[in-house]
Amino acid sequence: MKRIAVMGTGYVGLVSGTCFAEIGNQVTCCDIDEGKIQRLNEGIIPIYEPGLEEVVKRNIKEERLTFTTDIPSAIRDAEIVYIGVGTPMAESGEADLTFVKNVAKTIGENLNGYKVIVNKSTVPVGTGKLVQSIIKEHSTGNVEFDVVSNPEFLREGSALEDTMNMERAVIGATSDKAANIIKEIHEPFNTTIISTNLESAEMIKYAANAFLATKISFINDIANICERVGADVTKVAEGMGLDSRIGAKFLQAGIGYGGSCFPKDTRALIHIAEQVDYDFKMMKAVINTNEYQKMKVVTKLKDIISELKGKTIAVLGLAFKPNTDDMRDAPSLEIIPALLKEGAKIQAFDPIAKEAARLHFGDAISYHTDVYETLTNADVCVILTEWKDVLELDLNKVHSLLSKPVIVDGRNCFDLKEAEAANLIYHSIGRPEVNS
Ligand code: UDX
Repeated sequence: MKRIAVMGTGYVGLVSGTCFAEIGNQVTCCDIDEGKIQRLNEGIIPIYEPGLEEVVKRNIKEERLTFTTDIPSAIRDAEIVYIGVGTPMAESGEADLTFVKNVAKTIGENLNGYKVIVNKSTVPVGTGKLVQSIIKEHSTGNVEFDVVSNPEFLREGSALEDTMNMERAVIGATSDKAANIIKEIHEPFNTTIISTNLESAEMIKYAANAFLATKISFINDIANICERVGADVTKVAEGMGLDSRIGAKFLQAGIGYGGSCFPKDTRALIHIAEQVDYDFKMMKAVINTNEYQKMKVVTKLKDIISELKGKTIAVLGLAFKPNTDDMRDAPSLEIIPALLKEGAKIQAFDPIAKEAARLHFGDAISYHTDVYETLTNADVCVILTEWKDVLELDLNKVHSLLSKPVIVDGRNCFDLKEAEAANLIYHSIGRPEVNS
């Protein structure tokens, strides 16, 4: 059992802190937002994440998990201090390290004995060393400490499961002593440990996310070619993915990646490369493909019905992916304004992200949590997120509800034969058109 303080109660901080408590540590999660901390102490979770509330409540009850705004006391009481604060993207694409630097300063000011300071936020290569120097600058006396980089790989929507069953833990440390302490707290996770220096650990996080984004843009480019040569990208991906060197995952063509990580991290990596005089051309192409891909549903819809003005469009899905209420960099944020600009009326479905989406679209669209209600009185349908309710749609019923039986599917949710049998005009990504 270790005493761990976690700085930041966003996705990374909250999920990691909760999981460290779950495996038996004494964890204090800190945030400057008093309202958020008060709600967390009552077991109210600020994000939608399946299963998290139950585990948070259990660990609060069993007194392994507490939440506080008293950051200095939490740091002084801890043996290990995790930094899990946000690193938003500045205009330039550079990661904004203001929160990380502020936390490092507070840690320095409250360093009352040897501690391991662990960075879990996604930060540019070199930040570990920067954190080290800020702590040194603000600490008094000669108190020892070590900085470790232990990046996070969890996905939203399966964050708890991803952390409890992590495929690997990357531990980049400045000393064996610190590396061993962090290895030890990972033992209950029974995972593969990769030990490196600080810089490599920081780079692993960017390289992993950038590679996954590359896989998505690659298959989307292949999808665009498939459309022109009469191939079906889902079959192409299946045929490619069975090669174990390629792997089947992250080869789903669609309207591109969104979320809090890929768009931000790909841009940050280009910036990191520029700082060392390297033009990361491939990453720029990955981003370009992703931008192009988002608008495909709009162009496809306009190909089918040339005039969108006055049409009512049922938009199925607002969140950037299913099982989350996260709207950060969701394709819907660009697609819906483009449809509104064409003069269309939008009836949108999302079972979870409705309120988060309202902050972006206000009263410009109507919001629904019942998928069939969304389709009622609509002319045509566009699919942006592959929610379970969407995947389970009865296509004959969809046909009967729409005034024009058109679906433009940005997530390849249905079998082409099924769409054909329902007599729908069905256009998807990288596959032959049905009843065009
Ligand atoms: C991602 C990484 O998976 C995770 O390891 C990292 O720590 C944070 O970023 P997340 O953003 O939660 O996690 O979502 P993920 O499930 O990876 O999906 C990212 C985006 O890619 C989504 O917009 C999704 O729709 C898209 N995607 C994913 C595809 O378009 N095709 C695919 O085959 C897979």
